[in-house]
Amino acid sequence: MDPNFVRDPPAPSGPFEGQGIVVMTGATAGIGQFAAQRINCTTRARLIVGARGAQPRWGEALKLDLASLASVRSFAATVEKEIAGAKIDVLILNAALGTAPAGATTEDGFEATFAVNHLAHYLLLRLLIPLLATGARVVITTSNTHDPRTSPAPPRHADAIRLAHPETDPERDRSAFTGAFRAYSSSKLCNLLTARALAVSPLARERKLTVIAFNPGFTPGTGLGRNLPLPLRLVMQVVPWIIGRFRRINTAAHGGETLADLALGRIEPPEGHLYASIVSRELAWPDPSELAQNDDVMAKLWVDSARLVGVREAP
Ligand SMILES: NC(=O)c1ccc[n+]([C@@H]2O[C@H](COP(=O)([O-])OP(=O)(O)OC[C@H]3O[C@@H](n4cnc5c(N)ncnc54)[C@H](OP(=O)(O)O)[C@@H]3O)[C@@H](O)[C@H]2O)c1
Repeated sequence: MDPNFVRDPPAPSGPFEGQGIVVMTGATAGIGQFAAQRINCTTRARLIVGARGAQPRWGEALKLDLASLASVRSFAATVEKEIAGAKIDVLILNAALGTAPAGATTEDGFEATFAVNHLAHYLLLRLLIPLLATGARVVITTSNTHDPRTSPAPPRHADAIRLAHPETDPERDRSAFTGAFRAYSSSKLCNLLTARALAVSPLARERKLTVIAFNPGFTPGTGLGRNLPLPLRLVMQVVPWIIGRFRRINTAAHGGETLADLALGRIEPPEGHLYASIVSRELAWPDPSELAQNDDVMAKLWVDSARLVGVREAP
């Protein structure tokens, strides 16, 4: 844990500093663990963490395995019971699987990276929408790997049916080297499109939701590369060292701190922007990729995802 992490936290202010409720995924490791620490140590909000095994150091854990849609449904029902009529002020969908072995599927029969990173979070969002407070904030962690300008293996499309069943996708990446990475970047494009779809929905306007898609940028030292083959994991240790000679490298502590501040409303999106991106530890609000800005792709992803997880299409 970075000893400087909770240095000079902003003074409590705003709606989430008092009796607020924060629900979060991916708080047991990496960037999310630092975000949870900042939320826990600098606010009086109740922090509820969905965790599959490892206990979070910060917040109350409720069982959630994103590789199972049944577990997502059970988690959402438990959250509803636990908060007993209160509303959720902040929802942070941060968990992710970096890469899954080729052909790996979840118990629901969907490609594992797409299912964990996108479908499970999509279902969780849909189930928790009725529990969101007026003025709530939703932050979904995406990645600049969704963008061909900054990705070695960017998505080829955001077609949910083909991403869920890659064996039916004539455009799928068959390379053992880039295939898994492209599954990851595609899932992160879906996270961004989901954030955009929610932000432009009538419901978001009615309920005054603030929606942010957050890219922590390349951040070495987290658990994201844990499933990579050993040689690649070694490369991932050497590359940051080389890059670090020329520019400031992102850290999990800074990414987590920024995620928390975005979620708590200490950092506000500029008008008309939703994509918050960290490069060299500086937060910017760039336009996402062309595909991420495509409204038809966005609408189709929302509807197809609803069909895949078995909820109605309208939010
Ligand atoms: N690190 C980077 O370079 C980078 C760059 C851009 C975007 N991001 C994004 O940043 C976010 C955080 O990544 P990180 O780098 O901090 O990775 P990390 O250290 O591997 O943390 C991932 C988190 O997701 C949880 N998780 C994974 N699979 C899960 C499942 N099936 N059910 C429930 N929880 C699950 C993990 O829980 P366990 O403790 O149980 O494993 C952990 O808390 C991700 O959305 C990632 O895509 C990271």
